[in-house]
Amino acid sequence: MTLSDTLPGAAAADSRPGSEWWRTAVIYQIYPRSFADASGDGVGDLPGVTSRIDDLQALGIDAIWLSPFQRSPQKDAGYDVSDYCDVDPLFGTLADFDDLIEAAHSRGIRIIADLVPNHSSDQHVWFQEALAAAPGSPERGRYIFRDGKGENGELPPNNWESVFGGPAWTRVTEPDGTAGQWYLHLFDSSQPDFDWSNPVVQEEFRRILRFWLDRGVDGFRVDVAHGLVKAPGLPDYTPDPHGGSMGGDAAEVPYWGQEGVHDIYRDWHKVLAEYDGDRALCAEAWLPTVDITAKWVRPDEMHQAFNFAYLETPWDAAELRTVISESLRAYPAVGAPSTWVLSNHDVVRHASRLALTAENPQGHGIGPDSPGQPEPVLGLRRARAASTVMLALPGSAYIFQGEELGLPEVIDLPGDARQDPTWFRTEGERYGRDGCRVPIPWDAAAPAYGFSPTGQSWLPQPAEWATLARDQQVGDPDSTLSLYRTLLAERRAHGLGAGTLEWLDGYGDDVLAFRNGDVTVISNIGETPVELPTAELIVASEPVSDGILPADTTVWLRSI
Ligand code: NOJ
Repeated sequence: MTLSDTLPGAAAADSRPGSEWWRTAVIYQIYPRSFADASGDGVGDLPGVTSRIDDLQALGIDAIWLSPFQRSPQKDAGYDVSDYCDVDPLFGTLADFDDLIEAAHSRGIRIIADLVPNHSSDQHVWFQEALAAAPGSPERGRYIFRDGKGENGELPPNNWESVFGGPAWTRVTEPDGTAGQWYLHLFDSSQPDFDWSNPVVQEEFRRILRFWLDRGVDGFRVDVAHGLVKAPGLPDYTPDPHGGSMGGDAAEVPYWGQEGVHDIYRDWHKVLAEYDGDRALCAEAWLPTVDITAKWVRPDEMHQAFNFAYLETPWDAAELRTVISESLRAYPAVGAPSTWVLSNHDVVRHASRLALTAENPQGHGIGPDSPGQPEPVLGLRRARAASTVMLALPGSAYIFQGEELGLPEVIDLPGDARQDPTWFRTEGERYGRDGCRVPIPWDAAAPAYGFSPTGQSWLPQPAEWATLARDQQVGDPDSTLSLYRTLLAERRAHGLGAGTLEWLDGYGDDVLAFRNGDVTVISNIGETPVELPTAELIVASEPVSDGILPADTTVWLRSI
């Protein structure tokens, strides 16, 4: 076998000061409503997170990304914020947030907060003021209000569609009772888009950043970071039916990836730089290629961007090799680390997605009638193998709560339990994202598997999850939880996050093989067993014997 190209990972430290922890960190996504419920109302909360912080420390993570916990009517599970500087009572209080920061920091765990700057809730005081004010007023100028087309303004200002289905415009009733202007909402009608060309909006978000930075957050995951600036004149655009639901069309899209958006992050970069402790910005930007996404992490912009190209890559050795190589070229080329992610609260969990036999309906979800239903045993096996690859890659990796338990997507949620606006806006045509958001199991024998002391759970948990509960996995060396703990410990011990990837050739087309420092990673993505070199085994995603690597299995070996 031969060594082929060498790819730097976390990118050599550049002029940015401090420890730059985010270059190599393993960041654990907490979706607060589904993590741990201390109050017993069936919805997770911040005291619940704090109560489980030792479990996260035992897992070996470096940081937490906390999905929205700010005040919100919860029309889109918190991605519709009505007060950016308060905690929603559903999740607790600002004092609970301070307690969580303190509990995390005292254990060496950082916290990045979700920030939703593209749109607010329609219950935000600004939007309420805009509705009460006249067309052309400063109050309307904080959002994107336009007159409609047609004789009486009865047609929307352009043809844009909401990401969640249906039109991206809603007509308002003016204070005098007449049908009036339209406002833009790229997502639900309860999520009006801000007008980011307005300096008042820009200044308000500087204030919001400082509010949370002053409270000690280590950074922000920035929602829809590719969407804040819209093309002048708001020209018509018909999306590619094969494009990703959150963006990612190959064509120029007048609401995604506009040049002006970079000025906002250059500005925010300066705000974060006023603070000590290496605060970081991570872009949630669904863009068509890694080269385009890398523009969000140029040295004076954000620090990380989610690698959705990696997440969307099927279980295929050639395609994985390509996306890994491209990522380790494109991000370090601008001085940033690559990130890696397989699951989050918007996509089908990878323990199911990797066994789908139909096209991956990313963002649209799967349900009982979806084609290509995943086979659970195969899905979990591939998920373990895929995570064992991901956590060996140089850069920073994101884990979504529950993937360390091997949780699959919940496919058979009853229609009346579903809550994703996508489900409602498409009248059930798209199942949406509830299947990856089901509250996670902690204790097999406890009510709601330990999620909530009363046994309540805002989405029903499947009966099979008893065997996946954390307490069932803790002492079992073959469990997925034990695998993740070992992977995180060995990743740290071998410095893989800061390493360099060298591809190894000679194992066959269906095999992914690379070296990162003193660790050799071999992943058999095909069906034919592969002969392993003689070397010490560090970790394996499935049992390996007689030097043979079975299908859908990844090993880390000590390099010789
Ligand atoms: C991306 C978030 O991850 C998703 O959950 C949300 O619905 C949209 N942005 C709108 O905020």
